[in-house]
Amino acid sequence: MRVQLVPAGTGELTYEIRNIVNVAEKLQKCGVTINWENIGDPIVKGEQIPAWMKKIVSDAVLDNETWGYCHTRGVLNTREFICESTNKRGGSQITPEDIIFFNGLGDAIAKLYGCLTPEARVLMPSPSYTTHTLGEISHAGAPSLHFRLDPENGWQPDLAELRSQIESNPSVCAIMIINPDNPTGMVYSKETLQQIVAIAKEFGLFIIADEVYNNIVYNQEKTVPISDVIGDVPAISLKGISKEFPWPGSRCGWIEVYNGQTDEQFRKYINLILTSKMNEVCSTTLPQTVLPAIMQHPEYQLYLQERINLYEKSSNITYNFLKEVPELLVNRTNGAFYMAVAFKDGVLNNTQSLPISNDEVRTLVESLVNQPGVSPDKRFVYYTLAATGICTVPLSSFATSLQGFRVTLLERDPAETERIYKTLAANIKTYLAS
Ligand SMILES: Cc1ncc(COP(=O)(O)O)c(C=O)c1O
Repeated sequence: MRVQLVPAGTGELTYEIRNIVNVAEKLQKCGVTINWENIGDPIVKGEQIPAWMKKIVSDAVLDNETWGYCHTRGVLNTREFICESTNKRGGSQITPEDIIFFNGLGDAIAKLYGCLTPEARVLMPSPSYTTHTLGEISHAGAPSLHFRLDPENGWQPDLAELRSQIESNPSVCAIMIINPDNPTGMVYSKETLQQIVAIAKEFGLFIIADEVYNNIVYNQEKTVPISDVIGDVPAISLKGISKEFPWPGSRCGWIEVYNGQTDEQFRKYINLILTSKMNEVCSTTLPQTVLPAIMQHPEYQLYLQERINLYEKSSNITYNFLKEVPELLVNRTNGAFYMAVAFKDGVLNNTQSLPISNDEVRTLVESLVNQPGVSPDKRFVYYTLAATGICTVPLSSFATSLQGFRVTLLERDPAETERIYKTLAANIKTYLAS
């Protein structure tokens, strides 16, 4: 090619959360039974959508209006409903003009970073949900700028590092947080959020708060939405129904803009995001249309609570088994449905393995782990996958140099959860001792 096609450093990026599925599928063909503890889709993990929710959707399909385009910002009734629930908390006050719907938050995230100039950088947590990091670095054409979530301190953010990154990188225009967090399951406290908002104010930055797991918290934890503490700092909250209804296949999420008019640059930025949505006319009408009816249904809170109780149970079972392995840094998850586990420094190496009796499986895994550049945690993940069928994701694929793995807490049968984590803990010990 006469010109460089992709930004420097981005051509080799892989999306390991999906990549691991290809490996697991190959192993499945060799006869390995897979436990899919890698994927954040409750439906794939057997969640049965209640009949009342399906009825609301099927009735809406019979309504001609749901077949048409809607307003570029989204269905007005739904935006009004969302405003009411945000405004009644008493924090930042919004109008339907401050909301834009997207085809899932994946779409919103791509536009958020895509509408910035390449020089304007967003500071990311590390580890972080890959879609944010890839969106940001692909756009900037440069490695990510990040602040550490500390596994030795309950995955709380390192605010000293956050501040020093902002001080030493004048190109930083925003701070991104995910609350509750993916991949760590950490929930930001009100005080921490206030400190982050204060730093943003001090340096003239805006905040991007991915709050897609906002209503999924447990172990006595509570989420404080950014709108409660934002004051007059410009901010964008990302919310959606993929995880909460759960309806990931709806491809429906939205942004709420706080203090959208207080800064002229920020106002233009939001307007550019809206314009790029206008290019597509609008996002899918049907899921937006049914959102208020589903959220106001008398069974909604009960159904959500039942699911949350299950995640709490899984979080505790997983924690109790894995904390028995002294080489691991394990934190109890209090929100979302993930647990990120880090290995202590220096315990992994490139000669460890697990016994695998099936020759075909062993050959396949050895060919994968012996490729150049395979990180120690990827090696660990591939070996445990092949030896036990338990599919996890290497932690290093979440924009961190930490070595470890991420699991989801979506298994519906607590007895099976116990079996899986008992097996995983035993195999980690065997792997480390090999
Ligand atoms: C933190 C976070 N944000 C956004 C998304 C994407 O959500 P959507 O299905 O709305 O694209 C995910 C999906 O796993 C996520 O974990």
